[in-house]
Amino acid sequence: MIILFLKTYNKSMKKNIAILKGDGIGPEVINEAIKVLNAISKKHNHEFVYTEALIGAAAIDAVGKPYPLETHNICLNSDAILFGAIGDPKYDNDPNAKIRPEQGLLEMRSKLGLYANIRPVKSYEALWESSPLKTHIIKDVDFVVVRELIGGIYFGSPRGRSEDGKIAFDNCSYSEEEILRITKRAFDFARNRKKKVTLLDKANVLATSRLWREVVAKYATTQPDIEIEYSFIDSAAMHIIQKPRAFDVILTENLFGDIISDEASVIGGSLGILPSASFGDKVALYEPIHGSYPQAAGKNIANPLAAILSAAMMLEYSFLMLDEAKAINDAVEKTLNNGFVTEDINNGKYSTNQVGDKVVEFLEED
Ligand code: IPM
Ligand code: MG
Repeated sequence: MIILFLKTYNKSMKKNIAILKGDGIGPEVINEAIKVLNAISKKHNHEFVYTEALIGAAAIDAVGKPYPLETHNICLNSDAILFGAIGDPKYDNDPNAKIRPEQGLLEMRSKLGLYANIRPVKSYEALWESSPLKTHIIKDVDFVVVRELIGGIYFGSPRGRSEDGKIAFDNCSYSEEEILRITKRAFDFARNRKKKVTLLDKANVLATSRLWREVVAKYATTQPDIEIEYSFIDSAAMHIIQKPRAFDVILTENLFGDIISDEASVIGGSLGILPSASFGDKVALYEPIHGSYPQAAGKNIANPLAAILSAAMMLEYSFLMLDEAKAINDAVEKTLNNGFVTEDINNGKYSTNQVGDKVVEFLEED
């Protein structure tokens, strides 16, 4: 039976992938991820069909909207989406800009119903030296942040300004249903890991957090094999630096998840190596957690590993190509261990495409 099961997933497959390179270093890092996907398709006889679509500042410049309908339709008709980065300083420096690239990302997440954002944090031995944290603290860290992505203060209503413009407000609201669906995802993740979920909230102050605790606690009673723990976000922000090995699956709402995942990325040694996946009920999205890093755009110096690892997550979760995903993860680890790294890691001397080439080389000799 087991052999039959494995065989089913080992056969060659055809997959349609929407490619949204976006802004800044997005195009460069996604090109390296495509290079790696092509090496996989050649070796394992898969066919990956890529359809490029515009998003972010690139889309505003071309058609006046950060997430054009055409892009949305390409995403809906694909088996998975691989996304680079979004953001351009020309909009950041203009507080009156009506349209911003980031709106494209938020609109895409919301329209595709991508409520569960998975951000794995792992400490690679080759990066211990470049972490500002001590090795004995970050050694063997392996946890995942499960961030709610389409609710809370990011999307709440009302939001805006009072008539005289002197007061601003962003409502934060969550329904039981929104909390429950992501809670189920977090418990499912924990089941395949160390079987522990930590809910981060601010239940000592916020009504929304109290509802989170209520819903999560009730669901937890139906999942006795998973340990549940509750922590206030402020003290968790401290614990994540002091004893990061204590975490397995961190479950949290949108804004807390945004903040804690950037903090957690320091443990990994570089923001340039952290991938992410976003799931809903339709197609899934894979993206590096780093931003568009405009200062590096076009210079061939950005770290492509987060994009490459995002492609590996896509193979694992959307296409169930487990061996292929593992081969990429192993090749990335070898690339790091052999010092083929970009300047964000230990002042590495390799360029974006040289690092991509090395990953392909290790894949081919595997
Ligand atoms: C992230 C980013 C986005 C967010 C921005 C670019 C809108 O910081 O994916 O973490 O806040 O969600
Ligand atoms: Mg963020």
